[in-house]
Amino acid sequence: MDFYHSINRRKSCRAYRQEPLAPSQLAEMKKALDSFEPLYLNAPIEYRLTSETKGMFQVKAPHYLVFSRKGEEGEQENAGFIGQQLMLWLDAHDLGGVWLGASKDATEQRTREDIIMLAFGEPEGSPHREISEFRRKPISDITNAVEDECIKAVHLAPSGMNIQPWYLEKREDTVKLYRKILKPPMSFAYKLTHVDMGIALCHYAVACDHFGKPFHFRAGGKAKEKKGYEFIGEVY
Ligand SMILES: Cc1cc2nc3c(=O)[nH]c(=O)nc-3n(C[C@H](O)[C@H](O)[C@H](O)COP(=O)(O)O)c2cc1C
Repeated sequence: MDFYHSINRRKSCRAYRQEPLAPSQLAEMKKALDSFEPLYLNAPIEYRLTSETKGMFQVKAPHYLVFSRKGEEGEQENAGFIGQQLMLWLDAHDLGGVWLGASKDATEQRTREDIIMLAFGEPEGSPHREISEFRRKPISDITNAVEDECIKAVHLAPSGMNIQPWYLEKREDTVKLYRKILKPPMSFAYKLTHVDMGIALCHYAVACDHFGKPFHFRAGGKAKEKKGYEFIGEVY
């Protein structure tokens, strides 16, 4: 399924009808979730549904999906990469979703390994918006290649507190990806930029698929230093 259209119209939905989705629709969603490609094959993440949450910036929704780790490197990026495919799937099915970085599972299923959750369901109002309604930094703040269609897709990606902690430097056939290092007090308040990077790479991969380009990501390696950022890998 080509989710590119959804990249250009999705939004965080924070108001939901409280009726649960039909069991058949939930089953279809879980099937889709199981079919999504991870960013890293060796960092599988687990997920479960939950019904009650607590914490800051909560959103009342009929369903919540919690991602949790097993202890491998790259799980936060994988949660972002897979969870954002689900967000685009929800948009494509006229359903709403929102990432919830500050909420916790309030049921006894909660574990210390929980990474992040998202809320979803039938939204009150439209789950879509016009491209002019996206609030983002100027694209020249996140890349040296402002006309690149895959980077334009990253430009629209959601991130916690809308920080957009990414920089993409295009060099010939590769794109170097950097993660912004947050400073106090922001670094105390927000610790999910690794999830954000997975979300950004999801949008990049979906756009590559749409435009018939290959998508590969190589984590680590060396690149020119960029002040205030950490080099995390290369898209090629
Ligand atoms: C990792 C992550 C955590 C987030 N946590 C919350 C949250 O706790 N509460 C909330 O209302 N929105 C949360 N958001 C949604 C962002 O605020 C939202 O994506 C951003 O402001 C951009 O808006 P948009 O998604 O409508 O494009 C989160 C988003 C991400 C990616």
